[in-house]
Amino acid sequence: MPRVLSCIQPTGSVHLGNHLGALINWVAGQHEGDVYHGIVDLHALTVVDTPGLIGDQTVELAAMLFAVGLDPQVATVFVQSHIHEHSELSWIMECTVSYGELSRMTQFKDKSAKREGEFISAGIFTYPALMAADILLYDADEVPVGDDQRQHVEITRDVALRFNHRFGDTFVIPRAVHPKAGARVMDLQDPTSKMSKSAATDAGIVYMLDDNATIEKKFKRAVTDNDGEVRYDRAAKPGVSNLLDILSACSGTPVDTLAASYSQYGPLKKDTAEAVISVVEPVRARYGELMADRGELTRLLRIGNDRARAVAAATLARVHSAVGLLPRV
Ligand code: TYM
Repeated sequence: MPRVLSCIQPTGSVHLGNHLGALINWVAGQHEGDVYHGIVDLHALTVVDTPGLIGDQTVELAAMLFAVGLDPQVATVFVQSHIHEHSELSWIMECTVSYGELSRMTQFKDKSAKREGEFISAGIFTYPALMAADILLYDADEVPVGDDQRQHVEITRDVALRFNHRFGDTFVIPRAVHPKAGARVMDLQDPTSKMSKSAATDAGIVYMLDDNATIEKKFKRAVTDNDGEVRYDRAAKPGVSNLLDILSACSGTPVDTLAASYSQYGPLKKDTAEAVISVVEPVRARYGELMADRGELTRLLRIGNDRARAVAAATLARVHSAVGLLPRV
Protein backbone atom coordinates (compact mmCIF):
# COMPACT_ATOMS: atom_id res chain seq x y z
CA MET A 1 0.00 0.00 0.00
CA PRO A 2 1.55 3.34 -0.95
CA ARG A 3 1.93 5.99 1.73
CA VAL A 4 0.12 9.12 0.53
CA LEU A 5 0.39 12.64 1.88
CA SER A 6 -1.12 15.92 0.79
CA CYS A 7 -2.08 19.15 2.51
CA ILE A 8 -4.21 22.27 2.10
CA GLN A 9 -3.94 25.75 3.58
CA PRO A 10 -6.74 27.18 5.72
CA THR A 11 -6.84 30.46 3.79
CA GLY A 12 -10.38 31.43 2.79
CA SER A 13 -13.07 29.11 1.50
CA VAL A 14 -12.36 25.93 -0.42
CA HIS A 15 -13.06 26.38 -4.15
CA LEU A 16 -13.68 24.11 -7.11
CA GLY A 17 -9.98 24.18 -8.07
CA ASN A 18 -9.02 22.75 -4.68
CA HIS A 19 -11.77 20.17 -4.95
CA LEU A 20 -11.13 18.90 -8.47
CA GLY A 21 -7.35 19.34 -8.35
CA ALA A 22 -6.87 17.70 -4.98
CA LEU A 23 -9.70 16.80 -2.58
CA ILE A 24 -11.71 14.53 -4.92
CA ASN A 25 -8.55 12.49 -5.46
CA TRP A 26 -7.74 12.35 -1.76
CA VAL A 27 -11.17 10.83 -1.16
CA ALA A 28 -10.86 8.40 -4.08
CA GLY A 29 -7.42 7.30 -2.89
CA GLN A 30 -8.18 6.75 0.78
CA HIS A 31 -8.89 3.04 0.43
CA GLU A 32 -5.92 2.39 -1.84
CA GLY A 33 -3.22 3.87 0.33
CA ASP A 34 -2.23 4.75 3.86
CA VAL A 35 -3.24 8.40 3.63
CA TYR A 36 -2.27 11.50 5.62
CA HIS A 37 -3.85 14.91 5.02
CA GLY A 38 -2.72 18.04 6.82
CA ILE A 39 -4.41 21.37 7.37
CA VAL A 40 -1.30 23.48 7.02
CA ASP A 41 -1.99 26.48 9.25
CA LEU A 42 1.71 27.39 9.58
CA HIS A 43 1.94 27.80 5.82
CA ALA A 44 -1.05 30.16 5.96
CA LEU A 45 0.89 32.42 8.37
CA THR A 46 3.01 33.51 5.40
CA VAL A 47 0.05 35.59 4.23
CA VAL A 48 -2.50 35.80 7.09
CA ASP A 49 -1.83 37.99 10.12
CA THR A 50 -5.28 38.76 11.55
CA PRO A 51 -5.42 37.50 15.16
CA GLY A 52 -7.75 34.53 15.68
CA LEU A 53 -8.65 34.05 12.03
CA ILE A 54 -6.57 30.97 11.29
CA GLY A 55 -8.03 28.94 14.17
CA ASP A 56 -11.58 29.42 12.89
CA GLN A 57 -10.54 28.67 9.32
CA THR A 58 -8.79 25.50 10.48
CA VAL A 59 -12.01 24.15 12.04
CA GLU A 60 -14.01 25.09 8.93
CA LEU A 61 -11.51 23.37 6.68
CA ALA A 62 -11.57 20.25 8.86
CA ALA A 63 -15.37 20.16 8.47
CA MET A 64 -14.96 20.56 4.70
CA LEU A 65 -12.43 17.71 4.46
CA PHE A 66 -14.79 15.34 6.26
CA ALA A 67 -17.76 16.69 4.30
CA VAL A 68 -16.14 15.90 0.94
CA GLY A 69 -15.78 12.34 2.12
CA LEU A 70 -12.52 11.75 3.97
CA ASP A 71 -13.37 9.02 6.45
CA PRO A 72 -11.71 9.66 9.83
CA GLN A 73 -11.60 5.88 10.42
CA VAL A 74 -9.37 5.50 7.37
CA ALA A 75 -7.68 8.82 6.55
CA THR A 76 -5.41 10.59 9.00
CA VAL A 77 -6.44 14.27 9.04
CA PHE A 78 -4.22 16.45 11.19
CA VAL A 79 -3.37 20.08 12.00
CA GLN A 80 0.18 21.03 11.06
CA SER A 81 0.87 23.34 14.05
CA HIS A 82 -0.20 20.58 16.45
CA ILE A 83 2.68 18.39 15.28
CA HIS A 84 5.81 20.32 16.29
CA GLU A 85 8.01 18.04 14.19
CA HIS A 86 6.97 20.01 11.07
CA SER A 87 8.64 23.21 12.27
CA GLU A 88 11.68 21.31 13.53
CA LEU A 89 12.30 19.41 10.31
CA SER A 90 11.61 22.57 8.33
CA TRP A 91 14.75 24.18 9.81
CA ILE A 92 16.86 21.20 8.79
CA MET A 93 15.33 21.42 5.30
CA GLU A 94 16.20 25.15 5.16
CA CYS A 95 19.79 24.10 5.74
CA THR A 96 19.54 21.51 2.95
CA VAL A 97 17.91 23.64 0.24
CA SER A 98 19.90 26.43 -1.41
CA TYR A 99 19.14 30.13 -1.67
CA GLY A 100 19.33 29.78 -5.47
CA GLU A 101 16.75 26.96 -5.55
CA LEU A 102 14.32 28.97 -3.41
CA SER A 103 14.83 32.08 -5.57
CA ARG A 104 13.80 30.16 -8.69
CA MET A 105 10.40 29.06 -7.35
CA THR A 106 7.67 30.57 -9.53
CA GLN A 107 5.22 30.71 -6.62
CA PHE A 108 7.69 32.83 -4.62
CA LYS A 109 8.19 35.16 -7.59
CA ASP A 110 4.41 35.47 -8.20
CA LYS A 111 3.46 35.95 -4.56
CA SER A 112 6.18 38.48 -3.81
CA ALA A 113 5.41 40.40 -7.03
CA LYS A 114 1.71 40.58 -6.06
CA ARG A 115 2.67 41.98 -2.64
CA GLU A 116 5.01 44.61 -3.94
CA GLY A 117 5.02 47.60 -1.60
CA GLU A 118 3.48 45.46 1.15
CA PHE A 119 5.07 43.32 3.86
CA ILE A 120 6.73 40.25 2.31
CA SER A 121 7.62 37.74 5.00
CA ALA A 122 10.75 35.59 4.80
CA GLY A 123 8.27 32.71 5.19
CA ILE A 124 7.05 33.29 1.62
CA PHE A 125 10.63 32.62 0.54
CA THR A 126 11.37 29.61 2.76
CA TYR A 127 7.87 28.10 2.25
CA PRO A 128 9.17 25.12 0.17
CA ALA A 129 11.40 23.99 3.07
CA LEU A 130 8.34 23.65 5.33
CA MET A 131 6.46 21.89 2.56
CA ALA A 132 9.35 19.46 2.08
CA ALA A 133 9.21 18.75 5.81
CA ASP A 134 5.44 18.08 5.59
CA ILE A 135 5.99 15.49 2.88
CA LEU A 136 9.18 13.82 4.09
CA LEU A 137 8.03 13.42 7.71
CA TYR A 138 5.43 10.90 6.54
CA ASP A 139 7.67 8.82 4.25
CA ALA A 140 5.21 9.64 1.47
CA ASP A 141 5.48 7.73 -1.81
CA GLU A 142 2.76 9.79 -3.50
CA VAL A 143 1.65 13.41 -3.20
CA PRO A 144 -1.72 14.04 -4.94
CA VAL A 145 -1.81 17.74 -5.87
CA GLY A 146 -2.95 20.17 -8.54
CA ASP A 147 -0.57 21.27 -11.24
CA ASP A 148 0.48 24.45 -9.40
CA GLN A 149 2.30 22.36 -6.76
CA ARG A 150 4.48 20.47 -9.27
CA GLN A 151 7.56 22.61 -8.63
CA HIS A 152 7.20 22.30 -4.86
CA VAL A 153 7.18 18.51 -5.06
CA GLU A 154 10.18 18.60 -7.42
CA ILE A 155 12.22 20.66 -4.96
CA THR A 156 11.21 18.27 -2.18
CA ARG A 157 12.63 15.39 -4.21
CA ASP A 158 15.86 17.30 -4.84
CA VAL A 159 16.27 18.17 -1.18
CA ALA A 160 15.52 14.60 -0.06
CA LEU A 161 18.07 13.18 -2.50
CA ARG A 162 20.68 15.71 -1.34
CA PHE A 163 20.04 14.87 2.31
CA ASN A 164 20.24 11.12 1.64
CA HIS A 165 23.49 11.65 -0.23
CA ARG A 166 25.01 13.68 2.62
CA PHE A 167 23.76 11.73 5.60
CA GLY A 168 22.79 8.29 4.30
CA ASP A 169 19.42 6.87 3.25
CA THR A 170 16.87 8.56 5.46
CA PHE A 171 14.00 9.84 3.36
CA VAL A 172 11.61 8.14 0.97
CA ILE A 173 11.69 10.01 -2.37
CA PRO A 174 8.11 11.15 -3.13
CA ARG A 175 6.41 11.72 -6.47
CA ALA A 176 3.60 14.08 -7.39
CA VAL A 177 0.33 12.59 -8.67
CA HIS A 178 -2.01 14.77 -10.76
CA PRO A 179 -5.62 14.06 -11.82
CA LYS A 180 -6.44 13.43 -15.50
CA ALA A 181 -8.96 16.27 -15.54
CA GLY A 182 -9.11 19.18 -13.08
CA ALA A 183 -5.38 19.48 -12.37
CA ARG A 184 -5.54 23.12 -13.36
CA VAL A 185 -8.99 24.68 -12.94
CA MET A 186 -8.97 28.22 -14.31
CA ASP A 187 -10.81 31.35 -13.19
CA LEU A 188 -14.18 31.56 -15.01
CA GLN A 189 -13.70 35.29 -15.66
CA ASP A 190 -10.01 35.08 -16.57
CA PRO A 191 -9.43 31.59 -17.96
CA THR A 192 -5.71 32.19 -18.45
CA SER A 193 -5.23 32.42 -14.65
CA LYS A 194 -5.78 29.54 -12.25
CA MET A 195 -8.80 29.66 -9.97
CA SER A 196 -7.26 31.02 -6.79
CA LYS A 197 -8.34 32.48 -3.47
CA SER A 198 -6.08 35.46 -4.14
CA ALA A 199 -8.00 36.60 -7.27
CA ALA A 200 -9.17 40.22 -7.29
CA THR A 201 -12.91 39.33 -7.56
CA ASP A 202 -15.08 36.33 -6.67
CA ALA A 203 -17.01 36.31 -9.97
CA GLY A 204 -14.77 33.67 -11.56
CA ILE A 205 -14.34 31.50 -8.46
CA VAL A 206 -16.82 28.76 -7.58
CA TYR A 207 -16.79 28.06 -3.86
CA MET A 208 -17.91 24.75 -2.39
CA LEU A 209 -20.34 26.67 -0.18
CA ASP A 210 -21.86 28.78 -2.99
CA ASP A 211 -25.61 28.19 -3.36
CA ASN A 212 -27.00 26.69 -6.57
CA ALA A 213 -28.24 30.00 -8.00
CA THR A 214 -24.80 31.57 -7.53
CA ILE A 215 -23.10 28.63 -9.22
CA GLU A 216 -25.50 28.81 -12.18
CA LYS A 217 -24.91 32.55 -12.50
CA LYS A 218 -21.11 32.18 -12.40
CA PHE A 219 -21.14 29.57 -15.18
CA LYS A 220 -23.64 31.52 -17.27
CA ARG A 221 -21.28 34.52 -17.19
CA ALA A 222 -18.13 32.45 -17.76
CA VAL A 223 -15.82 34.08 -20.30
CA THR A 224 -15.50 32.08 -23.55
CA ASP A 225 -14.64 33.41 -27.04
CA ASN A 226 -16.33 34.54 -30.23
CA ASP A 227 -15.73 31.72 -32.69
CA GLY A 228 -18.62 29.59 -31.44
CA GLU A 229 -16.88 26.23 -31.84
CA VAL A 230 -16.73 23.70 -28.98
CA ARG A 231 -13.20 22.29 -29.06
CA TYR A 232 -10.57 21.44 -26.44
CA ASP A 233 -7.58 23.69 -27.01
CA ARG A 234 -6.13 25.25 -23.87
CA ALA A 235 -3.98 27.80 -25.72
CA ALA A 236 -6.46 29.03 -28.34
CA LYS A 237 -9.70 28.47 -26.42
CA PRO A 238 -8.93 28.72 -22.68
CA GLY A 239 -12.50 29.47 -21.52
CA VAL A 240 -14.22 26.65 -23.43
CA SER A 241 -11.42 24.21 -22.57
CA ASN A 242 -11.78 25.08 -18.89
CA LEU A 243 -15.53 24.32 -19.02
CA LEU A 244 -14.84 20.98 -20.74
CA ASP A 245 -12.17 20.15 -18.18
CA ILE A 246 -14.48 20.93 -15.24
CA LEU A 247 -17.34 18.93 -16.77
CA SER A 248 -14.97 16.04 -17.41
CA ALA A 249 -13.65 16.08 -13.82
CA CYS A 250 -17.23 16.13 -12.43
CA SER A 251 -18.70 13.52 -14.79
CA GLY A 252 -15.76 11.20 -15.52
CA THR A 253 -16.33 11.53 -19.29
CA PRO A 254 -13.16 12.32 -21.30
CA VAL A 255 -12.88 15.89 -22.65
CA ASP A 256 -12.76 14.80 -26.30
CA THR A 257 -16.02 12.86 -26.00
CA LEU A 258 -17.63 15.87 -24.36
CA ALA A 259 -16.30 18.31 -26.95
CA ALA A 260 -17.79 16.19 -29.72
CA SER A 261 -21.22 16.21 -28.11
CA TYR A 262 -21.71 20.00 -27.92
CA SER A 263 -22.10 22.51 -30.72
CA GLN A 264 -23.02 25.57 -28.65
CA TYR A 265 -21.61 27.28 -25.56
CA GLY A 266 -24.97 27.79 -23.81
CA PRO A 267 -25.78 24.10 -23.24
CA LEU A 268 -22.13 23.41 -22.30
CA LYS A 269 -22.26 26.10 -19.61
CA LYS A 270 -25.65 24.86 -18.36
CA ASP A 271 -24.55 21.22 -18.14
CA THR A 272 -21.26 22.13 -16.48
CA ALA A 273 -23.10 24.16 -13.84
CA GLU A 274 -25.46 21.21 -13.25
CA ALA A 275 -22.59 18.73 -12.95
CA VAL A 276 -20.83 21.00 -10.47
CA ILE A 277 -24.02 21.42 -8.43
CA SER A 278 -24.48 17.65 -8.24
CA VAL A 279 -20.96 17.36 -6.80
CA VAL A 280 -21.21 20.33 -4.45
CA GLU A 281 -24.78 20.03 -3.10
CA PRO A 282 -24.30 16.96 -0.87
CA VAL A 283 -20.98 18.34 0.40
CA ARG A 284 -22.69 21.56 1.48
CA ALA A 285 -25.31 19.63 3.42
CA ARG A 286 -22.76 17.47 5.27
CA TYR A 287 -20.61 20.52 5.99
CA GLY A 288 -23.56 22.16 7.76
CA GLU A 289 -24.11 19.09 9.96
CA LEU A 290 -20.45 18.79 10.85
CA MET A 291 -20.08 22.48 11.74
CA ALA A 292 -23.02 22.15 14.12
CA ASP A 293 -20.95 19.83 16.36
CA ARG A 294 -17.56 21.41 17.05
CA GLY A 295 -16.88 18.97 19.89
CA GLU A 296 -17.04 16.09 17.45
CA LEU A 297 -14.71 17.90 15.01
CA THR A 298 -12.18 18.40 17.79
CA ARG A 299 -12.42 14.71 18.68
CA LEU A 300 -11.80 13.69 15.06
CA LEU A 301 -8.81 16.02 14.76
CA ARG A 302 -7.36 14.64 17.99
CA ILE A 303 -7.50 11.11 16.55
CA GLY A 304 -5.74 12.29 13.36
CA ASN A 305 -3.14 14.31 15.26
CA ASP A 306 -2.24 11.34 17.47
CA ARG A 307 -1.71 9.09 14.46
CA ALA A 308 0.28 11.72 12.56
CA ARG A 309 2.45 12.57 15.57
CA ALA A 310 3.58 8.97 15.98
CA VAL A 311 4.84 8.81 12.37
CA ALA A 312 6.37 12.29 12.40
CA ALA A 313 8.21 11.75 15.69
CA ALA A 314 9.82 8.53 14.44
CA THR A 315 11.00 10.21 11.22
CA LEU A 316 12.44 13.22 13.03
CA ALA A 317 14.34 10.93 15.41
CA ARG A 318 15.77 9.13 12.36
CA VAL A 319 16.82 12.49 10.87
CA HIS A 320 18.53 13.62 14.09
CA SER A 321 20.43 10.39 14.27
CA ALA A 322 21.44 10.53 10.56
CA VAL A 323 22.74 14.10 10.96
CA GLY A 324 24.53 13.07 14.15
CA LEU A 325 23.01 15.61 16.51
CA LEU A 326 23.98 14.79 20.11
CA PRO A 327 21.21 12.53 21.49
CA ARG A 328 18.91 14.40 23.87
CA VAL A 329 20.16 14.43 27.50
P1 TYM B 1 -3.38 25.11 -1.56
O1 TYM B 1 -3.88 25.21 -0.16
O2 TYM B 1 -3.22 26.39 -2.33
O3 TYM B 1 -4.30 24.16 -2.42
C1 TYM B 1 -4.68 22.86 -2.00
C2 TYM B 1 -4.73 21.92 -3.19
O4 TYM B 1 -5.59 22.44 -4.21
C3 TYM B 1 -4.91 22.44 -5.45
N1 TYM B 1 -5.37 23.59 -6.25
C4 TYM B 1 -5.78 23.49 -7.52
N2 TYM B 1 -5.91 22.44 -8.34
C5 TYM B 1 -6.41 22.66 -9.59
N3 TYM B 1 -6.79 23.89 -10.02
C6 TYM B 1 -6.68 24.98 -9.23
N4 TYM B 1 -7.08 26.18 -9.66
C7 TYM B 1 -6.17 24.80 -7.91
N5 TYM B 1 -5.93 25.65 -6.87
C8 TYM B 1 -5.45 24.89 -5.87
C9 TYM B 1 -3.43 22.60 -5.10
O5 TYM B 1 -2.60 22.14 -6.15
C10 TYM B 1 -3.34 21.74 -3.85
O6 TYM B 1 -3.15 20.39 -4.20
N6 TYM B 1 1.53 24.48 -0.87
C11 TYM B 1 0.24 23.82 -0.84
C12 TYM B 1 -0.13 23.21 0.50
C13 TYM B 1 0.87 22.25 1.05
C14 TYM B 1 1.09 20.92 0.59
C15 TYM B 1 2.08 20.37 1.48
C16 TYM B 1 0.57 20.16 -0.45
C17 TYM B 1 1.67 22.46 2.12
N7 TYM B 1 2.41 21.33 2.40
C18 TYM B 1 2.52 19.07 1.32
C19 TYM B 1 1.02 18.85 -0.60
C20 TYM B 1 2.00 18.30 0.28
C21 TYM B 1 -0.82 24.84 -1.19
O7 TYM B 1 -0.63 26.02 -1.00
O8 TYM B 1 -2.00 24.29 -1.59
